[in-house]
Order: sequence, then structure tokens, then C-alpha cells
Amino acid sequence: MKKKVRSLTSLPPTSQLATLRAWLAFAESVYQQAELALGQVATSAHDEALYLFLRTLDWPLDSDPDVLDQPLSPAQRIALRQILAKRAIDRTPAGYLTREAWLGEHRFYVDERVIIPRSYFLELIPTLADFLPPGQRVTRAVDVCTGSGCLAILLAHEFPQAKIDAIDLSPAALEVAAINVKAHKLARRVTLHRSDVFASVAPVKYDVILSNPPYEPSDICDNLPVEFQKEPRMALDGGKDGLDIIRRLLVQARERLQPHGIVVIEVGELQRAMNKEFKSLRPQWLETQDGSNCVCLIRAERLLASSPRSSSTKPPSAIAASTAVATPKPTRFLPVR
Ligand SMILES: C[S@@+](CC[C@H](N)C(=O)[O-])C[C@H]1O[C@@H](n2cnc3c(N)ncnc32)[C@H](O)[C@@H]1O
Repeated sequence: MKKKVRSLTSLPPTSQLATLRAWLAFAESVYQQAELALGQVATSAHDEALYLFLRTLDWPLDSDPDVLDQPLSPAQRIALRQILAKRAIDRTPAGYLTREAWLGEHRFYVDERVIIPRSYFLELIPTLADFLPPGQRVTRAVDVCTGSGCLAILLAHEFPQAKIDAIDLSPAALEVAAINVKAHKLARRVTLHRSDVFASVAPVKYDVILSNPPYEPSDICDNLPVEFQKEPRMALDGGKDGLDIIRRLLVQARERLQPHGIVVIEVGELQRAMNKEFKSLRPQWLETQDGSNCVCLIRAERLLASSPRSSSTKPPSAIAASTAVATPKPTRFLPVR
């Protein structure tokens, strides 16, 4: 049954709120009252409101804590009230309000055409070379389901000698990816492709195939908090059991990997289902700081040793129903407390 959202139709009076510290305390109570969903930009109401307010005031994200007690002008207070109303009443995700998302030190343009980046690959991309044979360099890599292009761009920054392909089926998402590729000055090394997985991409052998595909089971997508429903459905919905794109990706990857290559896929809550259906591929679960370990690595030798049938045409396995959305990660830690 769909959870009833506690909606807010107006904000309580704010005329007494003279400093950012006071506004933050107020915002935290509003987040709680309206039961706003977190996880797209930050994991706590404090961090998200602070981020929104600093951006609205056009103050640096690493501002000195002194700014918390600096008196705000009437115009600044109006701006804070307006942004909080958009977040709490319209339930617009913070990233769509600021038109940006951060992965580590990297800023990406985002809007409603793409999911707001929050992938575990931020911490895992720097470790990928360790899984290749000693001395093997990454010269070709691909990001399948690229959305805003953020992971293709992180790959390009991590492997400065590599050519990167970035694939998405959504023309709208690719428009956003193009903005980001240009902003990161990577047009010569990152090539965007409109394609249903690899269907329309010329056959190339990659050292690394990376993907953060849509992996939520459809019934979970139907019941996501409003903020997550404002993201493109095709960025989240992985079909009945969440595995639709992953199955196709793993079949097609057999033809696209170098013999020493690896496939790395973020799968959310689907570890058990993956281990069951793709046992013969021996998925290795990469450790992440929060212990969720939901990115699997599969080696070319295992893919090539298994018949495509065994990894693609089995009936969907039953997976435990889950109410969790893609596990939220704070994308930037704000030092102001
Ligand atoms: C979870 S989002 C990931 C976006 C980005 N890589 C990130 O980590 O923020 C999944 C993306 O897959 C794309 N997508 C969905 N179905 C696809 C398909 N059949 N082939 C290629 N891309 C697809 C969606 O448009 C969406 O941009």
C-alpha cells in the first residue's frame, strides 16, 4: 500500500529568523514535519539544508563556521524562505533546485532529465586498476547507462590516457551528459552514444565495462518517495525483479571485453538475486566504506567460460521485497556545523 505523504501547504512564520543558524534549526524542523525524503544530496536534514542555504546565499560550501551567526539581510531571508518552500512544499529534490551535484571534488550539472548522481563508484573507480593484471593500463572503458555522464567523466579523470564511451538510451539524459563532458573539457576523450545497452555501439573491446543501471524492481519504483519519483523513471526501474538491464548487459559484455577485462555493476539491493542467478560468473562484491558492498565485479574469463544462456535466460529469481531506494550517500561533507 502506498505510504501517505505528509504534505505541507505553507511554511510557518519566519520573521524572527535573523541568522543562518536560526534558519538551519527551523529548516530541520520543517524537514521533519514534512517527512522530506533524504538521500539524493545528503543523508541528514542538517547537511542538506545547509547545502541549499549556502548555495542560495552564494556563500562558499566550505565557509567558516562564523557565517552561522552573521546577520542576514531582508533579501537573503526572503531567498531562504523561497528555497525552503520549494524543497518542503513542492518536494523538489535539492539537486534540481541548485542544478548541480557533487561527486567528491567534481561538480556536475543536473536537472530533471537525469537522476541526481550518488553512486558508490565515486569511491570504487580509484581502485579499479588494482583488479587488472600488473602493468595493464586502462586504455578503453565504457560507462553503460551514463545519465548525467558523471561516471564516464570520473573514469576519464582517473585514467587520463583512456578513451571512454558513455551510453544511454535517453536522448534527454545525453543532452545533460554533453553539458558535463564539455564543462569538464573531455570532449576529445569521452564519446556519448545513444543506445539500448550496447545495441547501437560499434564493437570495441574494453578493459573496463562499468554500469550503474536502473536496478529497482518496478513495484518499488511505484512506491518511492515523491522526491525520487521526480527523477526519470527509466533511470530507476529495472523491471519486475530489477535485473532487466543487468541481464542484457552481462550477455553483451562477453563480446566487448578484453580477455583481462572486468565488468563492474552497481546493483543496490540485488546482491542475493545476483549471486543466485549469476553464480557461475562468481561475482565479487567490492567493499565500500558504509559496508553496503553493492557493486559487483565480474572477470572476462568467467564471462567467457559461462554460456550466454546460463547467465541470461533463466527465469527471474525471486528477490526479497525491499523498501529501500538506492542507498543514499552524502556527496560532499560540509564542514560548517
Ligand atoms: C541509475 S541511472 C545512472 C546514471 C549515472 N550513471 C549515475 O550514476 O548517476 C541509469 C541510466 O540508465 C539509462 N538507461 C535506462 N535504460 C537503458 C538502456 N536500455 N540502455 C541504456 N541506458 C539506459 C537511464 O536513462 C539512466 O540515465
